[in-house]
Amino acid sequence: MTVHTRRRVLQSMLAAPALASLTPALRAIAGEDPLIDSPAKALDIFDFERLARSKLPPAHWGYLKTGVDGDATLHANDAGFANYGLRVRRMVDVSRIDTSVNLFGTTWQSPIFLDPVGSQRAFHADGEIASAKAARSKKHLQILSTVSSTGVEDVNAARGEPVWYQLYPTDHWPVTQALVRRAEAAGCPVLVLTVDLQGGSNRVTLARAIPRDSRDCTTCHTTGRTQLSGFIVGKPMFSGLDLSNVGSLEPADMTWEYLRRLRDIWPRKLVIKGLATREDALLAIEHGVDGVIVSNHGGRAEDSGRASIDSLAEVAPAVAGRVPVLVDGGVRRGSDVFKALALGADAVGIGRPYIWGLASFGQEGVERVLEILQAELAGNMRQAGTRRIAEIDESFVVDKRRA
Ligand code: FNR
Repeated sequence: MTVHTRRRVLQSMLAAPALASLTPALRAIAGEDPLIDSPAKALDIFDFERLARSKLPPAHWGYLKTGVDGDATLHANDAGFANYGLRVRRMVDVSRIDTSVNLFGTTWQSPIFLDPVGSQRAFHADGEIASAKAARSKKHLQILSTVSSTGVEDVNAARGEPVWYQLYPTDHWPVTQALVRRAEAAGCPVLVLTVDLQGGSNRVTLARAIPRDSRDCTTCHTTGRTQLSGFIVGKPMFSGLDLSNVGSLEPADMTWEYLRRLRDIWPRKLVIKGLATREDALLAIEHGVDGVIVSNHGGRAEDSGRASIDSLAEVAPAVAGRVPVLVDGGVRRGSDVFKALALGADAVGIGRPYIWGLASFGQEGVERVLEILQAELAGNMRQAGTRRIAEIDESFVVDKRRA
């Protein structure tokens, strides 16, 4: 097949809606879009995805890309937004757009927040510090992972104020307690308990990527230890702790009782991350959470094939404003953010997209990703005739499967 024919075949494939989620990769192969050489040249966030892929070593790309088992949930997250269309209104004075939101008494200039993503120095030497500086300059909420490659105190200093702290529940209470106390001492206003990886998950895409990486990884990844301790030894949040009794960051025996235990040692706001159903959202509220993040861990938890945006459509009406509902998973466009807000989200998280920016250009890359999504959101708000986030309600979205 000549290069010309190959391009024509690929270009006709790009036109097929079913291949929408493959579009950026296919475009790259088709040679349509050259890799960008500065953040300013990015037209959408997929410019960063392609550059990140070309820059990252196979195993680190695999860690970022992977879902679970057959990656059905990962693909569902991405494709799920296309099931909803916008119902736009005209003839509204949209010369001023206000995208600010208030969460627990703090006002953020944007509803878009940076999700917790572990080990960010695997993507850029500046890791979480670069993300924090970008979150600071663009004024976005940032949640820091338990398995960060930088300690919470340094991240807070770079962010200019304490971030929200994400907690993986270890199976050894004294270690969990030490993590919580450290987040408290660092001034973090919100603790985010992740509950969607109970018993672990099978990351096939990652496992396939690792053998393709020919580098010597032993300088960063400890060998001769169990898989878990090899992972957390060297992570700053675990430094100085006795890890000999920690077998898991995702204990299989965790129940709602765990929330009560956390409540006893955490005096500030407590948010639960990783819910997908109305039943669990109601139970979480019953057990005293201050907020809910609808999430399937970016398609890395269960292979349900259910889109996070569909879970949000179920959860938000059940919660009915009692606590803030946040959502993440597959958000790639400002219109995705708009749809999530219309379906009842108070804020909308991104994981992989800002890491594409980080891997591409460090802090500037994260800033540009945020800028692009924010501009797309504002553009869609204008086109829909909505001036404030509070005006975006369910009347602005239609589920095309039912329409
Ligand atoms: C994650 N996520 C995650 N979640 C969490 O609670 N603690 C963590 O340490 C991590 N680490 C992590 C690493 C990587 C590489 C990815 C891709 C994801 C999940 C993350 O917070 C978020 O739920 C998803 O990334 C959102 O989906 P998108 O935006 O990546 O599609």
